[in-house]
Amino acid sequence: MLIARTIEALDAARAALGPLALVPTMGALHAGHVSLITAARAQGLPVAVSIFVNPLQFGPNEDFARYPRDEEADLAVLRAAGCALAWLPETSVMYPPGDATMIEVVGPALRWEGAARPGHFRGVATVVAKLFGQTRPERAYFGEKDWQQVQVVRRMVHDLALPVIISTVPTLREPDGLAMSSRNRYLAPEERRRAAWLPAILRDLRVELQSMMGADPSNDSADDNADNNADDSADNNATKLALAAAHTRLEAHGFKPDYLALVDAVSLEPIARPRAGSRLLVAARLGTVRLLDTMSVDHPPAAPAAP
Ligand code: PAF
Repeated sequence: MLIARTIEALDAARAALGPLALVPTMGALHAGHVSLITAARAQGLPVAVSIFVNPLQFGPNEDFARYPRDEEADLAVLRAAGCALAWLPETSVMYPPGDATMIEVVGPALRWEGAARPGHFRGVATVVAKLFGQTRPERAYFGEKDWQQVQVVRRMVHDLALPVIISTVPTLREPDGLAMSSRNRYLAPEERRRAAWLPAILRDLRVELQSMMGADPSNDSADDNADNNADDSADNNATKLALAAAHTRLEAHGFKPDYLALVDAVSLEPIARPRAGSRLLVAARLGTVRLLDTMSVDHPPAAPAAP
């Protein structure tokens, strides 16, 4: 595996390897990151993985200083996963003296994480654009767990006509359902046990919302503009009640939810009833740890198999 820490070394590695796939990371690598590398390798391109804890995407009271950093352990994970190139830029390489350019994102960046963490997606978009400029990948791989991040990156790639294909990989979960995340290691043992309620409550909510989709085929349409219709307002009310009940359940299990929302999967706008292309997003604190999760609410439940 090649290791580059300067733009010159990166250019030499790119010349040696040819067209690349990129997996951008902030290190603290776990099986979820390995699944991105595996998906990238399956496309047949050599895989570059960047490790850079990006100060620009952390707020002043967030965990930048204590974000887990263990380069040796990360490099061992990358070697075992068959990564061809590790790109490890210093902050002065990513943000050279006089650096004066940031990418401002609105649209899908405005709500949820964007509202809870002002400036976060500006930081993400700026560093991802820089990583694309530095490594010039054919494809880049992102985890679906950070669903809003993926929509922001896709929007940026489209708006700036960046020549890179964005691929996503489903969330990898622990055996009890908790979505894998570098921040899970901050959970105390008792919090870690309780954390499994987050995906469990989200799954129950998804089932409840899916059952609303089954009854009326018009609920599967993207037309969400019929507030005068009595059935629609009953659905809207049922969605609100289901979200509120799940919110209360989260609190009962010790979470402090930042948001729990049913949204359009691409625009991230909240929607009043489940339909094709809808998605649940949740962010909730357990102690000092902020956990994210997301599930698609795209289809009514499958009909039971005939006996
Ligand atoms: O998802 C992450 O780890 C980061 O937000 C990313 C995409 C590497 C940008 O710093």
